[in-house]
Amino acid sequence: MKYIDLRSDTVTMPTPKMRQAMAQAEVGDDVYRDDPTVKELEVLAARVTGHQAGLFVASGTMGNQLAIMTHTRRGDEIITGSNYHIVAHEVGAAAVLSNVSIRMIQHDNDLIYPQDIKAAVRSTDIHNPTTSLLSLENALSNGTVMPKDLMLENIDTAHSLGLKVHLDGARVFNAAVALDCDVKELTAPFDSVMFCLSKGLCSPIGSMLVGSTEFIERARKNRKLLGGGMRQAGILAAAGLISIHEMTKRLVDDHENAKKLASMLSDVKEADVFEQLRDINMVYFKLNVEHPEKLVDFAMTQGCKINPPGHGVFRVVTHNDISLNDIEAFVQIVKLFMKENPSAIT
Ligand SMILES: Cc1ncc(COP(=O)(O)O)c(C=O)c1O
Repeated sequence: MKYIDLRSDTVTMPTPKMRQAMAQAEVGDDVYRDDPTVKELEVLAARVTGHQAGLFVASGTMGNQLAIMTHTRRGDEIITGSNYHIVAHEVGAAAVLSNVSIRMIQHDNDLIYPQDIKAAVRSTDIHNPTTSLLSLENALSNGTVMPKDLMLENIDTAHSLGLKVHLDGARVFNAAVALDCDVKELTAPFDSVMFCLSKGLCSPIGSMLVGSTEFIERARKNRKLLGGGMRQAGILAAAGLISIHEMTKRLVDDHENAKKLASMLSDVKEADVFEQLRDINMVYFKLNVEHPEKLVDFAMTQGCKINPPGHGVFRVVTHNDISLNDIEAFVQIVKLFMKENPSAIT
């Protein structure tokens, strides 16, 4: 059965063109640097993001953690947002793999400001760890983007304090669509950037880490240390090339669909759509009923998958496998839920 799957853009299927390219990819042993398709992908990733070199990695988590491992020394402290992925969803890897502590910045909107960075950097007092890295996120996991001016101010502030700056850009191409700019403008000013080929860009596996040639050489060695040296990985890189060349250009459709979904949902009396969290392909909403969580099982019976609400708030995500018809169907499901589940409402 084909479900309407609104849980995340991580559920996207590789396109038929990707499957064909994967079947025909020219490959070699990438640990020997013999894989021409991986090399092509790494050069392309570096070029589009305005960096010298790129590294193909298995996942976004691996790319972020390699960046931390490569920028820091054991015992350092890094600064990042309290809800950012590297803190909230990477299994405490920064402590385990890089032996760094994390100084977290917390604001309701999940943004970070220059004054936060100035306040968080440790002095050289003998009792203090050394602050060596600021890690930002764009787009943010809460469905918004960090404005470009603020991002640049944050980077300048961190650099002036002697820090390196990494971007968790899992969805940086979505951020570029939302901010109506070339992705390079959001990525080139960083010392390193990770972005995902999976998620909205539809590759089955893979993320890219980009930075200076020297940084990527050290990250390549760390990737080997983590068991991430891949062999005939060109099979996967072939899909990645299509992600960058083609799939980046259609993200605007996902954003448009998210806008339409939000607007249709706002017509449901019991639904509160969080318009302030709607910059990219995500829609956050609340259902003002007694048991909103019952919608999850109900939607499943109607052929639609959604995640349970977090603190009462649902997040639905548009992507390449979600059409306008699917969106209309989902809104109908919400309306039907209201009609047929009085027990959820009272
Ligand atoms: C903001 C952000 N960073 C990093 C990641 C990690 O990517 P992966 O699931 O490929 O490890 C995700 C995954 O959803 C993410 O949303």
